[in-house]
Amino acid sequence: MNEVTHNLVSDGYGIIKNCISNRLLNKIQKSINNEIEDRLGKTITNNTKNLSKNYYQLKKKLSQFEIQKILSKRLVQQNLIDELFKEKKLLENLIYLIGPDISYLLDFEMAISDKGNKKEEYYYVKKNHQEFWSGMGLESLQLWIPINLKKGMGTLEIIKSSHEWGHIPHQNREPIRLPKKYKSIELKITNGSVALFTALTLHKTIQNNHDEIRIALPITIKNFYYPNFGNSDLFDFKKIQYSFFTKLRKKLGNPHFSPFRTIKLDEIDEI
Ligand SMILES: [Fe+2]
Repeated sequence: MNEVTHNLVSDGYGIIKNCISNRLLNKIQKSINNEIEDRLGKTITNNTKNLSKNYYQLKKKLSQFEIQKILSKRLVQQNLIDELFKEKKLLENLIYLIGPDISYLLDFEMAISDKGNKKEEYYYVKKNHQEFWSGMGLESLQLWIPINLKKGMGTLEIIKSSHEWGHIPHQNREPIRLPKKYKSIELKITNGSVALFTALTLHKTIQNNHDEIRIALPITIKNFYYPNFGNSDLFDFKKIQYSFFTKLRKKLGNPHFSPFRTIKLDEIDEI
């Protein structure tokens, strides 16, 4: 068992360290900034220096919810999420964890944390919750991919080993019962690494008091052959990685393995 798998099994979360290149992180940051500049009617600069300033300006015109939706869609349309999953170390670790038939949830929503987010805004400053409450199945893994994370911004707070407690009773998006003793930890992660946790791991947002905005991508992945233990059949997943078995099925074209479907008639001998 590798370290990430071990941590995931025992603590309910793990980190794949340094698995995304700076080149790709910059490309994603630029894409985000360019979309914001475009919406503001500015000239596209290809320079992320003013990313946070631009965001605060756009927030005067659009809600944070709308901005998060728009930006997530753009990253999908520009194939930047597909590119993320092509990063060698990340892909190898995911294949080790869930097998080589991998799909990701298309309708994910970028998580922006700005210092203006108030504690009462539950949507942006989430209290302790399990993704299972929102339909994520036990067969899936939740990735948390920092895109713009600087010292002092905070990350997520995770309750260690809470995935072993099962489905936690909840109301109004927070637990109504918790064990008397538990251990919360702040996720120690930097740009270029990827955190992952189970659908039952309790976690919450840590408020960002930094002048710049924190950006992360919470993306659910699953092996598309695993049975659904949640609502994942209602969501759109995109297949991005195939095993030999899936490749062969696709090549043959149908589940009846129709004979000689892939060979021209004149190349077949009548016996
Ligand atoms: Fe969450």
